[in-house]
Amino acid sequence: MKLDIIDKTFEKLLYTTVVVNGWILTARTQKDITFIKLNDGSNSKGIQLIVPSNFSEVSLLGTGCSIRASGTLVKSPAKEQSYELNVVTIDILGLSNSVYPLSKGKLPLDYLRKYVHLRSRTSTFGSIFRIKSAISYATHLFFNDRNFHHVNPNIITVNECEGGAGVFQITEKDISDVGSLPVLKDTKKYDWKKDHFDRPAFLTVSSQLQLEALACSIGSVYTTNKSFRSEHSNTNKHLSEFEHLEIEDVFITLDDLMQTGEDYIKYVGNYLLQKKGEDIDNLGKFVSKGLRERISTIVESSFTRVKYADAIEILKKADGLSKPVLYGDDLCSEYENYLTDFFKGPVFVSHWPSDIKSFYMKQVENSICENFDLLMPYKVGELIGGSMREDNLETMMDVMKKRGISTESLEFYLDMRRYGTVPHGGFGLGLDRMCMMFTGMENIKDVVAFPVYFKNLDL
Ligand code: 4AD
Repeated sequence: MKLDIIDKTFEKLLYTTVVVNGWILTARTQKDITFIKLNDGSNSKGIQLIVPSNFSEVSLLGTGCSIRASGTLVKSPAKEQSYELNVVTIDILGLSNSVYPLSKGKLPLDYLRKYVHLRSRTSTFGSIFRIKSAISYATHLFFNDRNFHHVNPNIITVNECEGGAGVFQITEKDISDVGSLPVLKDTKKYDWKKDHFDRPAFLTVSSQLQLEALACSIGSVYTTNKSFRSEHSNTNKHLSEFEHLEIEDVFITLDDLMQTGEDYIKYVGNYLLQKKGEDIDNLGKFVSKGLRERISTIVESSFTRVKYADAIEILKKADGLSKPVLYGDDLCSEYENYLTDFFKGPVFVSHWPSDIKSFYMKQVENSICENFDLLMPYKVGELIGGSMREDNLETMMDVMKKRGISTESLEFYLDMRRYGTVPHGGFGLGLDRMCMMFTGMENIKDVVAFPVYFKNLDL
């Protein structure tokens, strides 16, 4: 029986025989009894097994070993747990070698990063990944409730979408043998006609352009696709492959879009408080002190809305920033943190200068676009980037021309402006960053089971 089910129904199960499975976290022998802490990963508590030390298997039971045990569920005399299992039979499913790398009690997070295939057995990572799963479920509940359609467009694409985010190019050829690659006679450039798609292909940096096409036909849509970025950012917030929640909605305004972002974040926070309290408290004990209060603060706070120009004025007057701020600057982490401290909570910074933002954003007067970044407190920084999309064909073509963006692979995108254009907009939110915020982890590499980042690809 799964341990979370036992936990929820233990009063009914008391004094009955139950069978449990799992991996041993600790085994401690005292005279006649061996105490085993077992977990199957279904909750953070696990279960304490009381095994008579004269069982022949006892000498083999060490951390990491997998077992099946049956016995009577009884009330526990210890205050750490309400119940425990008086073991009657024990089967060893898999022995653990004596050099099991996670045998010591508290191990530093960067040590555990070397064992990504095992760290999810620890209490901390178990809680993180269960919370992440709940974030995913709450995401679908929220958007389904609001009649959004879930779609996952193609990941292999011809488009770069976000200029500057860095794309990974893909090929079917083995490029390690450079001499064998087909090249064009005259230019000596790689002959893409001899490759899988007859043309250069990339991993997507964002599903936005395809979502726009779908939104302009079936209405509100969202995806939970992965996005891929080759930028060399080895920070605690950047991955080369990340889970990207992107939404696209039609017949809306920028304010509507910001409201959806705010409602969504609060909905997920509330869902976690209701359903994942035990994991939140488990992380809150040692790893992320004050986590419950942090999540409650986020769901109860009002999200400030400020225009970029006003945010810059606030930053200009700020004391103690490491460098002076100028209109037209992007917001570095230091500025982001200053603004969330200044407003004592989440901040939507909207209406940025068009020049420093993407080509597709809706242009308004004075070279400003209708967009926003949502900055979150607790040093999370930018969690959402969104905008209304330019829906006027001429303006869109002008911007593309000015930026030297070829229309060749974007004719489909222009068609949406040619045939029945409508006001529409959307945003992208890094689900891994959201998981950092709701688990209190300070490094994105610790909220992704198998993180892929610059100079790091493990399995
Ligand atoms: O601001 P970004 O680049 O926006 C877009 O990609 C738009 N096309 C989205 C849209 O409008 N549909 O990325 C959106 C969010 C960021 O705010 C951040 O949370 C996350 O995606 N993100 C990353 N997360 C982890 N690692 C990276 N390298 C990330 N780059 C962006």
